[in-house]
Amino acid sequence: MNLLRKTLITAALPYANGALHFGHMAGAYLPADIFARYCRLKGRDTLFICGSDEHGVAITMSAELAGRTPQEQVDHFHLVNQDLFKKLNIKFDHYSRTTWPGHKKFTIQFFEDLMANGFIEAKETFQLYSEEEKKFLADRYVIGSCPRCGFLEARGDECQKCGASYEAEELKNPRSKKSGSTLILKKTTNWFLLLDKLRDKVEKWLEEKPWKPNVLNFIKGYLKETHPRAITRDTSWGIPVPLKEAEGKVFYVWFDAPIGYISATADWAERVGTPERWKDYWLDPKTHYVQFIGKDNIPFHAVIFPAMELGQNIPYKMVDDLPANEFYNLEGRQFSKSDGWTIDLADFLTRYSADQIRYTIAANAPENADSEFTWKDFQSRCNSDLLGKLGNFVNRVLVFTFNHLEGRMPALTPHEEDESFLAALKTKVGEIENHFEHYQLRKAASTLMELAHLANCYFDSQKPWMQIKQDKERAATIIACSLKAIEALSRIASPIIPDTAAQINLFLNLPLEEGKTLNKPHILFTKIEDSQMEEEIKKMQATPPVVVQAPIEPLKALIGIEDFDKVDLRVGLVLHAEKVPKSKKLLRLEIDIGLEKRQVLSGIGLQVTPEELIGKKVVIVANLKPATMMGLESQGMLLSIVGGPELKVLPADLSPGSVVV
Ligand code: MF3
Ligand code: ZN
Repeated sequence: MNLLRKTLITAALPYANGALHFGHMAGAYLPADIFARYCRLKGRDTLFICGSDEHGVAITMSAELAGRTPQEQVDHFHLVNQDLFKKLNIKFDHYSRTTWPGHKKFTIQFFEDLMANGFIEAKETFQLYSEEEKKFLADRYVIGSCPRCGFLEARGDECQKCGASYEAEELKNPRSKKSGSTLILKKTTNWFLLLDKLRDKVEKWLEEKPWKPNVLNFIKGYLKETHPRAITRDTSWGIPVPLKEAEGKVFYVWFDAPIGYISATADWAERVGTPERWKDYWLDPKTHYVQFIGKDNIPFHAVIFPAMELGQNIPYKMVDDLPANEFYNLEGRQFSKSDGWTIDLADFLTRYSADQIRYTIAANAPENADSEFTWKDFQSRCNSDLLGKLGNFVNRVLVFTFNHLEGRMPALTPHEEDESFLAALKTKVGEIENHFEHYQLRKAASTLMELAHLANCYFDSQKPWMQIKQDKERAATIIACSLKAIEALSRIASPIIPDTAAQINLFLNLPLEEGKTLNKPHILFTKIEDSQMEEEIKKMQATPPVVVQAPIEPLKALIGIEDFDKVDLRVGLVLHAEKVPKSKKLLRLEIDIGLEKRQVLSGIGLQVTPEELIGKKVVIVANLKPATMMGLESQGMLLSIVGGPELKVLPADLSPGSVVV
């Protein structure tokens, strides 16, 4: 292996539809950044490229929920995530975005080549279409009855009740999630990537890959079942398909996104003033190309994108290594923003340092199995490893140098034990490099601590504080060796904890030279107290809504059955819901009660969002005299269950019009 090889590193382009959390960072971005820093340290020509993935339904859906246009949404989260990366010291050479105009050209080149080479074909299919909204709806915009268990509110791609997965066209009674309107199957033409025709090429390319057996087996299994995949969509957010007969269609996000690795590099080259330089990486077969991804992205990176590359005409570099991580959870559960089970990264970084979390994640990386962040583990890694081992060694050596040796790098006249300490140090550094080379962060982090431990043991056994009283030269040598150890430690730790390494290098006033004055140290890590951790844990549990025991309402006066009988309670399906402008809590609902559609106003807007209600079955009082609120007529009353500040809309899983008695 050429140790000075040119290295191109990319990390999966994250969707610009939300703030990234620890889970994302642990899965791809931090491992990629650590590897990039390691390569730079080794003096390799290194380029680390990433960017926002800005097309697709993931964007349009989240934009709608946020009340933004897709463009506003990606503009917003592109900046949010770029800022998070910066705060965490993830140092890309460039962070681009797939709405960058130059990205189109690359996407179109792939499409045109693949088409000309017979690997793309137009096919007619039937897709769900909303006549009311006058458009085809993507899976995620569709609900209907599950073809397997009949569950009425099944999602467009899989049933949340029985777990069945299917094509949206298989749903019974499909309807629009947004408007509730019924959908029809309408003929449309889309373009398909003929993966089956590319299978042999991919198989051949895969043959020489020295990847983990579990990854290879997974890919081989996946390859066996390859079938043509649609790469265009009937929607408007995305890159338009450059064909007359494809008007109103755009590329499927997973077609253009990986091409973003190339275009983002071109974007970088343009920005640094050498527009052709992207070719140095992408068109040089000697480039070593590493893609960092999460395991859910393996098929796209190991099969589909390689197939696309093999089917087009430009000899783009193909991936050499594909470190795919498992998932990183939070205290035994998946990170979930909607459940409040998450840690806000920006907020976290106001209390703790980037290096503290970088080290914790590295030491506990989800390399071979899912792993998790726990506050206890975080505390112990920060206190016993970073502070207790590394920080402590740096501090005691430097303080000693200033107290007894005028703060200068002393002369070194090594004894045997010093030589063997320095040799042991070197061996450990070699081990750590080897771990970095193989993307093994856990091992790199633990060997780093072994190194710090070794240094502390040396210091303890040589007792410079005793020597200084009898043999100053001996004490000087021990300190000189210790300072060299700090230099080595800092250098090899720098990919994981770059800020700390930079601090240490300032203390050392590098390069270390005999007689040169060092800089006074300050504390590198502060101790994390139990009370802080208790507070963090409390805060996390407090994020999801807390159930408050409300005082129980007194009972009302008795009524006869004839009074109750007058009330007509019906099940209705919420077709549409929205906030009433200028009102804080009033929602306007359109409810289908089987016999007819009703407009119902309800003052529940502080406890329930319109999105939560659309597609839900509810109970309404159907024979209440209409009343006008804020200039709108309410033709019924929504029933809900109220417990103090909490409120739930009374659910009713029966067909609209059903009578509640
Ligand atoms: N945006 C995708 C995700 O978050 C990853 C895209 S990776 C790329 O799952 F290769 F397509 F860019
Ligand atoms: Zn089902």
